[in-house]
Amino acid sequence: MAQHHQKVVLIGDGAVGSSYAFALMHQGLAEELVIVDVDKERTVGDALDLEDASAWTYNKLVKSGDYSDAKDADLVVITAGAPQKPGETRLDLVDKNLKIMQSIITPLMESGFDGIIVVAANPVDILTTAAQRFSGLPKNRVFGSGTSLDTARLRVKLGQKFGVSPESVNAYILGEHGDSEFANFDEATIGGRPLKDWAADQNISDDDLEDILYGTAHKAYEIINRKGATFYGIGTSLARITRAIFRDEKVVLPVGAHLDGQYGLNDIYIGTPAVIGADGVESVIETTLSEAELERFHASAKTLKEVSDGGFA
Ligand code: NAD
Ligand code: LAC
Repeated sequence: MAQHHQKVVLIGDGAVGSSYAFALMHQGLAEELVIVDVDKERTVGDALDLEDASAWTYNKLVKSGDYSDAKDADLVVITAGAPQKPGETRLDLVDKNLKIMQSIITPLMESGFDGIIVVAANPVDILTTAAQRFSGLPKNRVFGSGTSLDTARLRVKLGQKFGVSPESVNAYILGEHGDSEFANFDEATIGGRPLKDWAADQNISDDDLEDILYGTAHKAYEIINRKGATFYGIGTSLARITRAIFRDEKVVLPVGAHLDGQYGLNDIYIGTPAVIGADGVESVIETTLSEAELERFHASAKTLKEVSDGGFA
């Protein structure tokens, strides 16, 4: 991968895509950003608007483009797809968004693209599987935002509950980016000390922790019911993943990675901690889970398998 001229092609310039573009520019993460969407006018407008921001940021070039721009791109981020309407789950989006994914991957691969794909469109775990199968790219170079946003939400909530910075909370959401996700409370730590010990000190019960998990898993609905969509959280999560790739950080992040036997799960994209660097998912972290958590992981994987087996297996 070219380190000297890091180029991102963003496919999908809606609320999520434009929030990602804005975060990318503010963090000076890419030297070139090309925006693609079926709504061409919107991408021209957004590129002009972001160009104004570029006077004060590090990015050298932002433009509206098409799939041929992906030929020499290092990273393609896919946020194109219908979002949930109030009352819909992410899995309800599968049929329409699988069609959109197919319509994207075909011209993308025809361009000669040979970089990394990160998928955020929902249902993200299923669409990541589709993107890898349709593209034929190596599984480490196609991955999803997975439970990155959910883990951010969990850490904020735990930080608030325990009175510490979210950065000091080492807890993860694993499983589907969706209703069947779960938290690794039994192994989580804050400042190296078991979270369960902090909880015992502060009279926080397992039921309280389950309430935190419920609030985490349902936060998207809270936001969508009020403002129709979520975008700043995922835009920033995608920028964090981009930084890990472009700076070859080899940082452990929760993403939607391909499992090949880890946790007793095979051939599935699902939320798990993984080492992220210039090669994409450089390894999956198989963190120790309690028996109850492992059961939840398998139940979550089953939910996804049922949908993907019905969709395009
Ligand atoms: P949006 O409706 O604002 O934007 C979607 C964009 O996709 C539109 O600009 C549309 O023109 C474009 N598009 C549609 N079909 C296309 C195609 N074939 N090729 C190129 N572009 C196409 O929606 P949004 O709020 O930005 O959400 C986008 C997706 O991201 C949804 O599926 C949503 O559920 C998902 N999302 C994921 C997360 C996450 O954590 N993974 C978080 C928030 C939203
Ligand atoms: C989220 C989206 C809707 O904010 O997947 O979790």
